Amino acid sequence: MYFNKFFSADVPSFLRSPVREIFRKVDLSAICSFAGGYPAATTFPLSQIPSLSSTVLEKYGTKPLQYGATQGVPELREVIAGRYGVPVSQVQITTSSQQGIDICTRILADPGDVILADNPVYLGALQSFRAYRADVMTIAEYLRMEGGTGSEICGHPRHNKRKEPAACCGSEAEAISGSVPASIGPAKFIYVIPDFNNPSGRTMSLQEREELVRVARELDVLIVEDSPYRELRYSGKPLPTIRSMAPERTLHLGSFSKIFAPGFRLGWIIGPEELLEQIYVCKQCLDLCPPVFDQYLAAEFMGSGALDENLTHTIAEYRQRRDDMVNLLQKYMPEGVSWTYPEGGLFLWLTLPEQIDTVALYDRALSAGVAYVAGSFFYTDGSHRNTMRLNFSFIDKAKMEPGIRLLAQLIRGTQLSD
Ligand SMILES: Cc1ncc(COP(=O)(O)O)c(C=O)c1O
Repeated sequence: MYFNKFFSADVPSFLRSPVREIFRKVDLSAICSFAGGYPAATTFPLSQIPSLSSTVLEKYGTKPLQYGATQGVPELREVIAGRYGVPVSQVQITTSSQQGIDICTRILADPGDVILADNPVYLGALQSFRAYRADVMTIAEYLRMEGGTGSEICGHPRHNKRKEPAACCGSEAEAISGSVPASIGPAKFIYVIPDFNNPSGRTMSLQEREELVRVARELDVLIVEDSPYRELRYSGKPLPTIRSMAPERTLHLGSFSKIFAPGFRLGWIIGPEELLEQIYVCKQCLDLCPPVFDQYLAAEFMGSGALDENLTHTIAEYRQRRDDMVNLLQKYMPEGVSWTYPEGGLFLWLTLPEQIDTVALYDRALSAGVAYVAGSFFYTDGSHRNTMRLNFSFIDKAKMEPGIRLLAQLIRGTQLSD
């Protein structure tokens, strides 16, 4: 049967994740994989799960097995509200922060609207933005097209806050890049990962945060602050969240995936109540409510202090892994290769000599027994083919050195053959 005619107009915009395609094709446990963004299984509180489960069943009886409130169970919302110092009414539980990104995009963006994001950008976010047919561009690109402040009105029916149509829809737009549409829709929100970005590993400085908030206020757009790694800091001092700096316009997304276990698929959104009300309605049609048993487990784990205790071990383990990886890169990588030194999170970002194409190198790397993610996959225009993302949390410790050595050999071999 020919099915294409049945698909919705959104379907051609769906983006396949190259990272998930790697998982589908290759048994990553059989090689040295720096590809995925998985946490180390050793950080999961495995031995505590049976007693946590018993406590939940003793305390709540059949409640954890029943449907729950769409906003999330009150016990978990209260624990999160207490931890982050916000009223319970500003907390919505999500079935993972990936769902949080998707819901925010779904309630805020129409096809052709603009979402302002870093380039490179987290692939899962890009998938949601594309699925709702939003255009993605950086703040710098957008401001260039705006020709300045973005505070004047344009006559274009979709451009509700623009200058003269000629200035905002004209040739200036076409001059920028292939990935930027010739005429742009209204910007709806800025998507940002201020702490330990995926993929770049970067953390925004205080000055950059202040500037971001200033631009958001000037353009009158919302901010979606994606923050799954914030609690995984290994060095440096914590900086204020964007939410704390602009609570009136920020939806802050948190996740249990990296601080508890991703298998529970739990996250949360903290934001203004009027926005959460729409998110609440949207979530009803997605899955009625987040997984109830898992929420009670998370409430017990976070509320009892066990999460903080576990986090201390997790941070110590990841700090060591980050430092091991950086030392190995220093030891093995040829001249011309540079990398970031992230203050937290799970990723290092490598920049190779200009002529080395990490997409072309990938199959050879896999056959040799090492995997990474080509950096260009995270760029909206597929550029920066001489970059790669390396994850340091998941690989067996014993495989880290052989993996980096192999990668370095491949890169050196490519340099010699050029
Ligand atoms: C920046 C970012 N946001 C969101 C997610 C999704 O996390 P979750 O497991 O909560 O869906 C990830 C996962 O790696 C991520 O890196």
